[in-house]
Amino acid sequence: MVLTGAGISAESGIPTFRGAGGLWRNFRPEELATPEAFARDPKLVREWYQWRRGVVREAQPNAGHVALAELERRVPEYLLVTQNVDNLHERAGSSKVTHLHGSIFIDRCIECGREMSPVPEEHCACGGWLRPGVVWFGEPLPEAAWQEAAAAAQCEVLLVVGTSALVYPAAALIPQAQACGAKVIEVNLEETRVSDAVDVSLRGPSARILPELL
Ligand code: OAD
Repeated sequence: MVLTGAGISAESGIPTFRGAGGLWRNFRPEELATPEAFARDPKLVREWYQWRRGVVREAQPNAGHVALAELERRVPEYLLVTQNVDNLHERAGSSKVTHLHGSIFIDRCIECGREMSPVPEEHCACGGWLRPGVVWFGEPLPEAAWQEAAAAAQCEVLLVVGTSALVYPAAALIPQAQACGAKVIEVNLEETRVSDAVDVSLRGPSARILPELL
């Protein structure tokens, strides 16, 4: 199993959530990616996601995404679990992908629950606000995606790439895999809170390290 976070897309030019370069108009992502922020100022939050969609559309998958697509072809039993809401894994050729935090390329009506590709209109035909189809702080993960990820965590090897491992329940997959006997390899630019607990911690940019690992 592979677990990815925002760091794998950093070299494609998509800002991560924490650390330098994550700010948008003086807002931190953590301040915008919440149900409270949307309730307070839906236009602002929609604008931020509109901006992020533009960034993602302009971005290209990097060598790290491509290496994981190749890994999928080499490993018969494989699942890529991502916290990312971009579509760069799929665009790099990965097909066994589970999105724990949804997708920015879906909008959902907060009243009737209808899902659709993002449209310029702020409201659904029923009158409800359209919100991005992502998971915000304090919201539950999509049940099916979580079940798939938890089952895949019963693996031999877990490769953890570009995540601060601070956000739960996604981060809980790491100790879960270890409890099942998995070896854990971390790839990250920096030391993280799990670096000491994993079997191998590879420090550096994933677009360099993942092709080397292959
Ligand atoms: P973070 O922004 O918390 O962490 C990004 C991680 O990537 C950090 O540990 C960086 O050191 C590392 N990193 C940065 N550039 C890298 C590179 N080129 N190569 C390798 N590693 C690199 O992002 P996530 O861990 O994904 O959730 O954050 C988890 C969740 O928090 C997100 O999915 C999002 C956010 O709130 C929701 O929106 C629900």
